[in-house]
Amino acid sequence: MSKIIEAEKVSYIYQTKYQKTKALSEVSCSFERGKVYAITGKSGSGKSTFLSLLAGLDVPAEGTLYVDGEDMKEMDRDAYRMNRASVIYQAFHLFPLLTVQENVMFPMELQHVPQKEAEARAKEHLAKVGLPDTLYKKMPNMISGGEQQRVAIARAMASGGEILLADEPTGNLDSQNERVIVDLLCKLAHEENYAVIIVTHNEAVAAAADVVYGMSDGALTVVRE
Ligand SMILES: Nc1ncnc2c1ncn2[C@@H]1O[C@H](COP(=O)(O)OP(=O)(O)OP(=O)(O)O)[C@@H](O)[C@H]1O
Ligand SMILES: [Mg+2]
Repeated sequence: MSKIIEAEKVSYIYQTKYQKTKALSEVSCSFERGKVYAITGKSGSGKSTFLSLLAGLDVPAEGTLYVDGEDMKEMDRDAYRMNRASVIYQAFHLFPLLTVQENVMFPMELQHVPQKEAEARAKEHLAKVGLPDTLYKKMPNMISGGEQQRVAIARAMASGGEILLADEPTGNLDSQNERVIVDLLCKLAHEENYAVIIVTHNEAVAAAADVVYGMSDGALTVVRE
């Protein structure tokens, strides 16, 4: 299986006026398509920092992140974020003034997919995440948290990427909805060949992953693979 992302001794430092925080320290690991990864660890251990580097929001202070063998520092990271890697969050982050369907069409609009095609594809993705079409014209605040997270997953799929990053995706959900979201994320990896990387505090979510990494004080270790 091919590695889609490889981290080689990745370090990251937050520098503010008064202090420096070394949030990641020589993190090395890799991610393959078709697998679900969980990253666990205490609050402040560096999980979200690592996820934002994987998302291309910033680059390591030291070390290298490779995507399909290419150094992320040399890549067009805007294109990477638009076309290849999507992030979903605990608080869903849907656009409040767009309908469910418009939210899913949004990444395709950025990619200049023709309207009709974007609409058809949005409907396909929404069906894949199991949302009934009676919800497509609703605004995000009119649907449940579990439904909103499913829309966020459909929107991530709509960008056509191959990497799905999730920061505590079930943190705001009850255990039943948590199960639905975890099953969906596993399906994306196992049936659609995504690399799915989930930051989580939740044991049940980690148990569903194929590989578990642990983060502690900015250092990453393999918990299970
Ligand atoms: N924008 C920032 N500026 C300065 N320091 C930061 C910033 N964001 C995070 N940090 C620090 O970097 C370290 C790692 O933070 P990070 O958010 O990656 O942890 P986390 O594992 O995601 O924690 P949590 O489980 O609470 O979300 C912490 O010491 C944190 O205080
Ligand atoms: Mg975090």
